[in-house]
Amino acid sequence: MLASRHIMTMDDVTAEEIVHILDTAESFAEVNQRRIKKLPTLRGRTIVNLFFEPSTRTRMSFEIASKRLSADGVNFTASSSATVKGETLLDTAKTLAAMSCDLVVVRHKYAGAPQMLAEVMDCSIVNGGDGVHQHPTQALLDLYTMRQSLGKLEGLRVGIVGDICHSRVAGSLVPALRKVGATPIIIGPPTLMPARPDVLGAEVAYDLDEVLPSLDVAYLLRVQFERAARMPFPSNREYASLYGMNAARLAKLPPHAVVMHPGPMNRGVEITADVADSARSVILDQVESGVAVRMAVMYLLLGGADSGAAA
Ligand code: CP
Repeated sequence: MLASRHIMTMDDVTAEEIVHILDTAESFAEVNQRRIKKLPTLRGRTIVNLFFEPSTRTRMSFEIASKRLSADGVNFTASSSATVKGETLLDTAKTLAAMSCDLVVVRHKYAGAPQMLAEVMDCSIVNGGDGVHQHPTQALLDLYTMRQSLGKLEGLRVGIVGDICHSRVAGSLVPALRKVGATPIIIGPPTLMPARPDVLGAEVAYDLDEVLPSLDVAYLLRVQFERAARMPFPSNREYASLYGMNAARLAKLPPHAVVMHPGPMNRGVEITADVADSARSVILDQVESGVAVRMAVMYLLLGGADSGAAA
Protein backbone atom coordinates (compact mmCIF):
# COMPACT_ATOMS: atom_id res chain seq x y z
CA MET A 1 0.00 0.00 0.00
CA LEU A 2 1.02 3.62 -0.50
CA ALA A 3 -0.04 6.45 1.82
CA SER A 4 -1.47 8.51 -1.05
CA ARG A 5 -4.36 7.27 -3.17
CA HIS A 6 -2.87 8.97 -6.23
CA ILE A 7 0.47 9.46 -7.97
CA MET A 8 0.06 12.87 -9.54
CA THR A 9 3.49 14.31 -8.72
CA MET A 10 6.62 13.06 -6.97
CA ASP A 11 5.26 14.77 -3.83
CA ASP A 12 2.80 11.86 -3.58
CA VAL A 13 5.54 9.32 -2.75
CA THR A 14 8.09 9.30 0.04
CA ALA A 15 11.68 8.09 -0.32
CA GLU A 16 10.71 4.85 1.46
CA GLU A 17 7.75 4.35 -0.87
CA ILE A 18 9.99 4.87 -3.91
CA VAL A 19 12.20 2.01 -2.71
CA HIS A 20 9.09 -0.10 -2.02
CA ILE A 21 7.79 0.55 -5.56
CA LEU A 22 11.17 -0.36 -7.10
CA ASP A 23 11.44 -3.54 -4.99
CA THR A 24 7.88 -4.53 -5.97
CA ALA A 25 8.71 -3.81 -9.62
CA GLU A 26 11.67 -6.20 -9.36
CA SER A 27 9.34 -9.06 -8.52
CA PHE A 28 7.07 -8.14 -11.44
CA ALA A 29 10.10 -7.94 -13.76
CA GLU A 30 10.68 -11.60 -12.97
CA VAL A 31 7.07 -12.36 -13.94
CA ASN A 32 7.62 -10.50 -17.22
CA GLN A 33 10.39 -12.98 -18.11
CA ARG A 34 8.08 -16.00 -17.76
CA ARG A 35 6.39 -17.67 -20.71
CA ILE A 36 2.97 -17.03 -19.13
CA LYS A 37 3.19 -13.40 -18.03
CA LYS A 38 -0.08 -13.09 -16.15
CA LEU A 39 -1.12 -12.82 -12.51
CA PRO A 40 -4.68 -12.74 -11.10
CA THR A 41 -3.80 -9.84 -8.77
CA LEU A 42 -6.15 -7.13 -10.09
CA ARG A 43 -8.92 -9.33 -11.44
CA GLY A 44 -12.22 -7.43 -11.48
CA ARG A 45 -10.58 -3.98 -11.24
CA THR A 46 -11.16 -1.46 -14.05
CA ILE A 47 -8.27 0.70 -15.26
CA VAL A 48 -8.80 3.47 -17.83
CA ASN A 49 -6.03 4.98 -19.94
CA LEU A 50 -7.24 8.53 -20.62
CA PHE A 51 -4.83 9.97 -23.17
CA PHE A 52 -5.41 13.41 -24.67
CA GLU A 53 -1.86 13.60 -26.11
CA PRO A 54 0.04 11.09 -28.25
CA SER A 55 2.03 8.35 -26.51
CA THR A 56 3.68 5.07 -27.41
CA ARG A 57 5.67 3.99 -24.34
CA THR A 58 3.47 5.26 -21.50
CA ARG A 59 0.11 4.20 -22.94
CA MET A 60 1.32 0.80 -24.18
CA SER A 61 3.16 -0.04 -20.97
CA PHE A 62 0.18 0.87 -18.76
CA GLU A 63 -2.03 -1.21 -21.04
CA ILE A 64 0.34 -4.19 -20.95
CA ALA A 65 0.81 -3.78 -17.18
CA SER A 66 -2.94 -3.84 -16.54
CA LYS A 67 -3.37 -6.95 -18.72
CA ARG A 68 -0.49 -8.75 -16.96
CA LEU A 69 -2.27 -8.12 -13.64
CA SER A 70 -5.62 -9.33 -15.08
CA ALA A 71 -7.34 -5.95 -14.67
CA ASP A 72 -9.96 -4.85 -17.19
CA GLY A 73 -8.06 -2.18 -19.11
CA VAL A 74 -9.93 0.33 -21.27
CA ASN A 75 -8.28 2.82 -23.61
CA PHE A 76 -9.68 6.28 -24.27
CA THR A 77 -8.27 8.10 -27.28
CA ALA A 78 -9.23 11.76 -27.47
CA SER A 79 -9.32 11.88 -31.28
CA SER A 80 -12.10 9.26 -31.44
CA SER A 81 -14.06 10.44 -28.39
CA ALA A 82 -16.72 13.06 -27.61
CA THR A 83 -13.81 15.46 -26.95
CA VAL A 84 -13.86 16.24 -30.69
CA LYS A 85 -17.52 17.32 -30.25
CA GLY A 86 -16.43 19.79 -27.58
CA GLU A 87 -16.93 17.77 -24.37
CA THR A 88 -14.82 19.24 -21.58
CA LEU A 89 -12.23 17.34 -19.55
CA LEU A 90 -14.44 17.65 -16.46
CA ASP A 91 -17.51 16.28 -18.21
CA THR A 92 -15.41 13.41 -19.59
CA ALA A 93 -14.15 12.71 -16.06
CA LYS A 94 -17.65 12.76 -14.57
CA THR A 95 -18.85 10.43 -17.35
CA LEU A 96 -16.07 7.95 -16.57
CA ALA A 97 -16.74 8.30 -12.82
CA ALA A 98 -20.34 7.21 -13.47
CA MET A 99 -18.93 3.98 -14.94
CA SER A 100 -17.11 3.08 -11.67
CA CYS A 101 -13.42 2.91 -12.62
CA ASP A 102 -10.82 1.94 -10.04
CA LEU A 103 -7.83 3.76 -11.53
CA VAL A 104 -7.38 6.33 -14.28
CA VAL A 105 -4.07 7.09 -15.99
CA VAL A 106 -4.29 10.53 -17.58
CA ARG A 107 -2.07 12.34 -20.06
CA HIS A 108 -3.05 15.90 -20.95
CA LYS A 109 -1.42 19.01 -22.34
CA TYR A 110 -2.51 21.06 -19.32
CA ALA A 111 -0.50 20.98 -16.11
CA GLY A 112 -2.84 20.14 -13.26
CA ALA A 113 -5.25 17.98 -15.29
CA PRO A 114 -4.74 14.98 -12.92
CA GLN A 115 -5.62 17.14 -9.88
CA MET A 116 -8.75 18.31 -11.70
CA LEU A 117 -9.82 14.69 -12.28
CA ALA A 118 -9.14 13.78 -8.66
CA GLU A 119 -11.67 16.41 -7.57
CA VAL A 120 -14.56 14.79 -9.44
CA MET A 121 -13.60 11.10 -9.60
CA ASP A 122 -13.71 8.64 -6.72
CA CYS A 123 -10.78 6.52 -7.90
CA SER A 124 -6.98 6.54 -7.99
CA ILE A 125 -5.39 8.92 -10.49
CA VAL A 126 -1.95 8.38 -12.02
CA ASN A 127 -0.36 11.21 -13.95
CA GLY A 128 0.87 9.91 -17.31
CA GLY A 129 2.30 13.35 -18.16
CA ASP A 130 0.62 16.75 -17.69
CA GLY A 131 1.88 19.52 -19.93
CA VAL A 132 5.35 20.72 -18.93
CA HIS A 133 4.69 19.83 -15.27
CA GLN A 134 5.40 16.19 -14.23
CA HIS A 135 5.57 12.59 -15.43
CA PRO A 136 6.12 10.69 -12.17
CA THR A 137 5.99 7.10 -13.43
CA GLN A 138 8.70 8.01 -15.98
CA ALA A 139 10.88 9.15 -13.06
CA LEU A 140 10.16 5.91 -11.18
CA LEU A 141 11.09 3.73 -14.16
CA ASP A 142 14.22 5.84 -14.66
CA LEU A 143 15.24 5.28 -11.03
CA TYR A 144 14.57 1.56 -11.47
CA THR A 145 16.77 1.47 -14.58
CA MET A 146 19.59 3.37 -12.85
CA ARG A 147 19.46 1.03 -9.86
CA GLN A 148 19.55 -2.02 -12.14
CA SER A 149 22.40 -0.60 -14.27
CA LEU A 150 24.59 0.94 -11.55
CA GLY A 151 23.63 -1.06 -8.45
CA LYS A 152 22.59 1.92 -6.33
CA LEU A 153 20.87 5.32 -6.39
CA GLU A 154 22.37 7.17 -3.44
CA GLY A 155 25.33 9.32 -4.45
CA LEU A 156 24.78 9.08 -8.22
CA ARG A 157 25.42 12.20 -10.29
CA VAL A 158 22.82 12.43 -13.05
CA GLY A 159 23.19 15.03 -15.81
CA ILE A 160 19.80 15.92 -17.31
CA VAL A 161 20.63 17.53 -20.62
CA GLY A 162 18.74 19.77 -23.02
CA ASP A 163 15.19 21.08 -23.09
CA ILE A 164 14.70 21.54 -19.35
CA CYS A 165 12.01 24.24 -19.54
CA HIS A 166 9.53 22.14 -21.55
CA SER A 167 10.30 18.84 -19.82
CA ARG A 168 7.82 17.14 -17.52
CA VAL A 169 10.39 14.33 -17.35
CA ALA A 170 12.88 16.73 -15.72
CA GLY A 171 10.03 18.07 -13.58
CA SER A 172 9.65 14.65 -11.93
CA LEU A 173 13.18 13.29 -12.24
CA VAL A 174 14.86 16.16 -10.34
CA PRO A 175 12.76 15.73 -7.15
CA ALA A 176 12.85 11.92 -7.49
CA LEU A 177 16.67 11.91 -7.58
CA ARG A 178 16.86 14.24 -4.61
CA LYS A 179 14.53 12.00 -2.59
CA VAL A 180 16.80 8.98 -3.07
CA GLY A 181 20.02 10.86 -2.28
CA ALA A 182 21.30 11.32 -5.85
CA THR A 183 22.46 14.64 -7.33
CA PRO A 184 20.63 16.02 -10.40
CA ILE A 185 22.54 18.44 -12.61
CA ILE A 186 20.51 20.28 -15.26
CA ILE A 187 22.55 21.22 -18.32
CA GLY A 188 21.36 23.11 -21.39
CA PRO A 189 21.33 26.34 -23.33
CA PRO A 190 19.95 29.38 -21.50
CA THR A 191 17.04 29.49 -23.98
CA LEU A 192 15.90 26.03 -22.80
CA MET A 193 16.32 26.66 -19.08
CA PRO A 194 13.40 27.74 -16.87
CA ALA A 195 13.32 31.41 -15.86
CA ARG A 196 14.60 30.45 -12.35
CA PRO A 197 16.63 27.23 -12.79
CA ASP A 198 17.95 27.57 -9.22
CA VAL A 199 14.50 26.87 -7.70
CA LEU A 200 14.32 23.34 -9.19
CA GLY A 201 16.76 22.07 -6.57
CA ALA A 202 19.34 20.81 -9.08
CA GLU A 203 22.87 21.94 -9.81
CA VAL A 204 22.85 24.11 -12.97
CA ALA A 205 25.45 23.97 -15.76
CA TYR A 206 25.67 25.31 -19.30
CA ASP A 207 28.83 23.56 -20.56
CA LEU A 208 28.08 19.86 -21.16
CA ASP A 209 31.70 18.92 -22.00
CA GLU A 210 32.91 20.26 -18.66
CA VAL A 211 30.39 18.19 -16.67
CA LEU A 212 30.56 14.85 -18.54
CA PRO A 213 33.62 13.36 -16.71
CA SER A 214 31.82 13.68 -13.35
CA LEU A 215 28.58 11.93 -14.34
CA ASP A 216 27.25 8.44 -13.62
CA VAL A 217 24.29 8.99 -15.95
CA ALA A 218 23.94 11.22 -19.01
CA TYR A 219 20.17 11.66 -19.42
CA LEU A 220 19.31 13.30 -22.74
CA LEU A 221 15.94 15.01 -23.05
CA ARG A 222 13.92 15.23 -26.24
CA VAL A 223 13.83 18.75 -27.66
CA GLN A 224 10.08 19.44 -27.57
CA PHE A 225 9.72 21.46 -30.73
CA GLU A 226 5.92 21.18 -30.46
CA ARG A 227 5.86 23.04 -27.12
CA ALA A 228 8.29 25.84 -28.06
CA ALA A 229 6.66 29.09 -29.18
CA ARG A 230 9.61 29.67 -31.53
CA MET A 231 12.80 27.80 -32.47
CA PRO A 232 14.86 27.98 -29.25
CA PHE A 233 18.27 27.77 -31.02
CA PRO A 234 19.61 28.77 -34.46
CA SER A 235 19.67 25.24 -35.94
CA ASN A 236 19.54 21.56 -35.04
CA ARG A 237 23.17 21.31 -36.13
CA GLU A 238 24.24 24.00 -33.63
CA TYR A 239 22.22 22.35 -30.83
CA ALA A 240 23.81 18.98 -31.61
CA SER A 241 27.30 20.47 -31.64
CA LEU A 242 26.87 22.00 -28.15
CA TYR A 243 24.46 19.64 -26.36
CA GLY A 244 24.06 16.50 -28.46
CA MET A 245 25.43 13.19 -27.15
CA ASN A 246 27.82 11.73 -29.70
CA ALA A 247 30.72 9.27 -29.75
CA ALA A 248 33.29 11.93 -28.75
CA ARG A 249 31.19 12.97 -25.74
CA LEU A 250 30.50 9.34 -24.80
CA ALA A 251 34.28 8.91 -24.50
CA LYS A 252 34.38 11.74 -21.95
CA LEU A 253 32.03 9.91 -19.57
CA PRO A 254 33.54 7.62 -16.92
CA PRO A 255 33.67 4.00 -18.22
CA HIS A 256 30.82 2.82 -15.94
CA ALA A 257 28.44 5.65 -16.86
CA VAL A 258 25.27 4.97 -18.86
CA VAL A 259 23.24 6.97 -21.37
CA MET A 260 19.49 7.40 -20.95
CA HIS A 261 16.65 9.06 -22.88
CA PRO A 262 12.90 8.91 -22.11
CA GLY A 263 11.95 8.61 -25.78
CA PRO A 264 10.84 9.33 -28.36
CA MET A 265 14.28 10.40 -29.62
CA ASN A 266 15.16 13.07 -32.15
CA ARG A 267 18.09 11.06 -33.55
CA GLY A 268 20.80 13.42 -34.76
CA VAL A 269 19.63 16.26 -32.50
CA GLU A 270 19.97 15.35 -28.80
CA ILE A 271 21.63 11.98 -29.47
CA THR A 272 23.37 10.36 -32.42
CA ALA A 273 22.17 6.98 -33.68
CA ASP A 274 25.49 5.25 -32.86
CA VAL A 275 25.25 6.32 -29.19
CA ALA A 276 21.53 5.54 -28.92
CA ASP A 277 22.20 2.02 -30.21
CA SER A 278 25.47 1.48 -28.31
CA ALA A 279 26.16 -0.88 -25.41
CA ARG A 280 26.36 2.15 -23.09
CA SER A 281 22.75 3.08 -23.87
CA VAL A 282 20.05 1.72 -21.52
CA ILE A 283 17.20 3.37 -23.41
CA LEU A 284 15.42 0.09 -24.20
CA ASP A 285 16.00 -1.05 -20.60
CA GLN A 286 14.00 2.03 -19.59
CA VAL A 287 11.14 0.85 -21.81
CA GLU A 288 11.34 -2.66 -20.35
CA SER A 289 11.40 -1.27 -16.80
CA GLY A 290 8.29 0.77 -17.58
CA VAL A 291 6.05 -2.29 -17.66
CA ALA A 292 7.27 -3.69 -14.32
CA VAL A 293 7.23 -0.30 -12.58
CA ARG A 294 3.72 0.48 -13.80
CA MET A 295 2.56 -2.97 -12.66
CA ALA A 296 3.98 -2.12 -9.22
CA VAL A 297 2.29 1.28 -9.16
CA MET A 298 -1.13 -0.18 -10.06
CA TYR A 299 -0.71 -3.06 -7.62
CA LEU A 300 0.28 -0.82 -4.70
CA LEU A 301 -2.34 1.89 -5.42
CA LEU A 302 -5.15 -0.65 -5.70
CA GLY A 303 -4.48 -2.32 -2.41
CA GLY A 304 -1.32 -4.36 -2.95
CA ALA A 305 -1.20 -7.43 -0.76
CA ASP A 306 -4.47 -6.26 0.88
CA SER A 307 -6.30 -6.80 -2.43
CA GLY A 308 -6.40 -10.49 -1.55
CA ALA A 309 -3.92 -11.76 -4.14
CA ALA A 310 -0.17 -11.36 -3.72
CA ALA A 311 2.35 -11.26 -6.57
N1 CP B 1 8.61 8.69 -22.40
C1 CP B 1 7.34 8.87 -22.81
O1 CP B 1 6.49 9.40 -22.08
O2 CP B 1 7.09 8.38 -24.06
P1 CP B 1 5.67 8.37 -24.79
O3 CP B 1 5.34 9.81 -25.15
O4 CP B 1 5.84 7.49 -26.00
O5 CP B 1 4.67 7.83 -23.81
